[in-house]
Amino acid sequence: MPRTVVVQPPGGFENVVISHQHAPPAPGAGEIRVRLHASSLNYHDYAVVSGMWGPSMPRIPLADGAGEVLEVGEGVTEFAPGDRVVSTFFPTWLSGRPNVIGFATVPGDGVDGYAREEVTAPATSFTHAPRGWSDVEAATLTTAALTAWRALFVDGQVQPGDTVLVQGTGGVSIFALQFAKMVGATVIATSSSDAKLERLRALGADHVINYRHDAGWGQTAWDLTDGKGVDHIIEVGGAATLEQSMAAVRVAGHISVIGILGGVAGELAIVPMLMKQFRLQGVLVGCRAEQQAMVRAFDSTAIRPVIDAVYPLEEIVAAFRHQESNRHFGKICLEF
Ligand SMILES: NC(=O)c1ccc[n+]([C@@H]2O[C@H](COP(=O)([O-])OP(=O)(O)OC[C@H]3O[C@@H](n4cnc5c(N)ncnc54)[C@H](OP(=O)(O)O)[C@@H]3O)[C@@H](O)[C@H]2O)c1
Repeated sequence: MPRTVVVQPPGGFENVVISHQHAPPAPGAGEIRVRLHASSLNYHDYAVVSGMWGPSMPRIPLADGAGEVLEVGEGVTEFAPGDRVVSTFFPTWLSGRPNVIGFATVPGDGVDGYAREEVTAPATSFTHAPRGWSDVEAATLTTAALTAWRALFVDGQVQPGDTVLVQGTGGVSIFALQFAKMVGATVIATSSSDAKLERLRALGADHVINYRHDAGWGQTAWDLTDGKGVDHIIEVGGAATLEQSMAAVRVAGHISVIGILGGVAGELAIVPMLMKQFRLQGVLVGCRAEQQAMVRAFDSTAIRPVIDAVYPLEEIVAAFRHQESNRHFGKICLEF
């Protein structure tokens, strides 16, 4: 019987159980059966599993899943057995403008996720993985990569020569750095660690700032643009960083409001928004069509995900403890 991770309510690492589920049913019309081989951790998954936003009923965690198609149901023409696939964050938001509120339909939160070896699901819950990628690599795309993709290319329409600021060295920010360099943008990257700043430089960051040593890093970033300001900001720090992001952004610039690493609520100064007329754009990952566009881009570039560590499925709690330590650089994955 395939192995499965279940988080018992109300969540918390002590309520994570490794069990076996019955093999999922054969795929019906429009469905595929997938042997999942990998997943990756995101802060949102941490919130569910750690109990911060724990489940109210037993829940299979993790939004990201990648593996091999075993069987296809009637009418499925997009996939064939043997194809490598990666899951989508919003199984019901296939294309177009955002149309889903919150996490009720999101695997690993409102519905069961992909910390399991097998699943039968609508074919539209997956896309092809980039050609030649391992399942571990593909499993980094669902949440972190697509969020960075959407922020820069869908909402931001980033152009060569633009300046992009990324915060910290988590999954979203490192993908954003890679995407920004892919199109010839200048990147300013921040981190709390000088050693990580060196690694950001090696990945192509043009300027780096230690946000722990430089409390006014927003002004520093502004100065690095010769007083023009930053075009796009990947804002993952939330309450801890928004004020500095607003100091760094250019007139009519774009701040992608993505993360809550430094708190979920704070004061919002209205006047700078009027003076600079920038756009604060809330982001919740992206749709299936955007994931397909991103996979096409990966098929024609040399970019590969930055993977910090890979754990076996049964060490999922150790993997989350590693994430909690903030020692990682890029993605933490599970392979099974
Ligand atoms: N809205 C969305 O669609 C969406 C999608 C994905 C993720 N998110 C959110 O985005 C955030 C990042 O997610 P992730 O998966 O990339 O996280 P992650 O991989 O766990 O990132 C952790 C890293 O963020 C940095 N960090 C922590 N506190 C910070 C702060 N106050 N200011 C700047 N950087 C800070 C640290 O980097 P250093 O050690 O280098 O300082 C830390 O190692 C989370 O809040 C997550 O919920 C949102």
